Amino acid sequence: MRKILCIGAGYVGGPTMAVIAKHCPQYEVRVVDMNADRIAAWNSDQLPIYEPGLKDVIDIARGRNLFFLTDETIAEQIDWADIIFVSVNTPTKAFGLGAGRAADLQFWEKTARQILQHATSPKIIIEKSTLPVRTAEAMSHILNTNSIGVQFDVLSNPEFLAEGSAIRDLEEPDRVLIGGHNTPSGQRAIETIVELYANWVPREKIITTNLWSSELSKLVANAFLAQRISSINAISALCEKTEADVEEVAFAIGTDKRIGPHFLRASVGFGGSCFKKDILNLVYICEQQGLPEVAEYWQQVLKMNEYQGARFVANMVHSMFNSLSGKRIALFGAAFKANTSDTRESPALVVCRELLEERADVILCDPHALENARQDLDEQAEKVNFVADPYQAAKGAHAIAILTEWAYFANLDYHQIYNSMAHPAFIFDGRNILDHQALFKLGFNVYPIGKAPLQHFNHGRT
Ligand SMILES: NC(=O)c1ccc[n+]([C@@H]2O[C@H](COP(=O)([O-])OP(=O)(O)OC[C@H]3O[C@@H](n4cnc5c(N)ncnc54)[C@H](O)[C@@H]3O)[C@@H](O)[C@H]2O)c1
Repeated sequence: MRKILCIGAGYVGGPTMAVIAKHCPQYEVRVVDMNADRIAAWNSDQLPIYEPGLKDVIDIARGRNLFFLTDETIAEQIDWADIIFVSVNTPTKAFGLGAGRAADLQFWEKTARQILQHATSPKIIIEKSTLPVRTAEAMSHILNTNSIGVQFDVLSNPEFLAEGSAIRDLEEPDRVLIGGHNTPSGQRAIETIVELYANWVPREKIITTNLWSSELSKLVANAFLAQRISSINAISALCEKTEADVEEVAFAIGTDKRIGPHFLRASVGFGGSCFKKDILNLVYICEQQGLPEVAEYWQQVLKMNEYQGARFVANMVHSMFNSLSGKRIALFGAAFKANTSDTRESPALVVCRELLEERADVILCDPHALENARQDLDEQAEKVNFVADPYQAAKGAHAIAILTEWAYFANLDYHQIYNSMAHPAFIFDGRNILDHQALFKLGFNVYPIGKAPLQHFNHGRT
């Protein structure tokens, strides 16, 4: 039986190992984390993250060949395993050289040193975390300083799952990418991991490359995805000035096969733990490699995202007669996207903080993400009302802003909501999920993204 260990039981480590364990009953999979609360949650019915379908997969594998453990026994687990996935967090560095841009590799390096300390037999070490290109080189240097002659093969196997559809993405990935060295042992290690995935992924979807291409591809994939969002968001600003409709423009350009229809939805901006940090990291690497023009090109993707959030709030202020002070504003959505409880870098929290600056009375409403929002807002949380029920949240409000595209928000009884609000009632659809004409007919003043607003009066906007 093959023995797999994963270090890091977060949004990636937990779901990824659960799907591997489900499809490979002949492997034993153990997942360790230094966060004991997280491990307790993985072992309970209240999983630490919300993902559609995750519970079903956990129910199949947990206790059979999938085990979640605290890191008290990490020495034993490392020595036990043949294959070690490292799926720890790699946030943006907050201090020292490269602060605010470079990846902070302290968690990843700590695990490498733990592996070095406790391993007494050969291992395949897999970078599952997103890392700067050529990190594996540093890892190999650390691991191969061992004096007991243990062989470590370092591979890169970046994760492309998207939160909110993680289980579907893992069950039917567009591709699995495995990078390794072109040496006999590197190639043997690659083949071992290809065999693992081939238990459920068609072989033609398993791509093998050299290590550096694999590491870089993950950063580039995220940079391209974020770039598409910033591109359509830039056009949404122009649509609002010209009475073009961004959805019509997106559809018209998306029919071109060279452009394609996906990822062309204008919105209040992208969030999540990855896009911003990975682009910052790409920008930093380009600068380090003496490529300032390339760095600046990618930096612009982030600048446009910040602009879109700021523009959204400015539009609220202008539309509501240039003052939000003391006005009750219900924010529908705290998660950075639908179908997840994750609020890291969520545009909803960016808008929330800006509205607090404007001294608005903010009510935050979300079906799954309120607890994470409370933690992320930190000391500002005490100024916010957290209300799970959207009807309660909207009661007496001057405005609603849709900030997460939960389908649930599109299907509410807006007639009832309108009647319970202060008038004139405003609705700012930061995700373009509502029926704008219908809301306008109910009496709302409606402000979509990238479309002309529907107002019952002519003043208030600049
Ligand atoms: N979240 C995503 O959608 C996503 C998608 C693809 C790739 N990634 C990448 O995957 C990596 C992990 O992301 P995540 O969202 O799962 O992060 P996360 O913060 O949810 O999980 C990381 C976990 O690692 C644990 N950890 C850190 N150091 C440890 C150590 N030495 N021993 C034991 N546990 C340790 C932490 O306690 C935490 O629970 C990051 O590099 C990220 O960029 C994330």
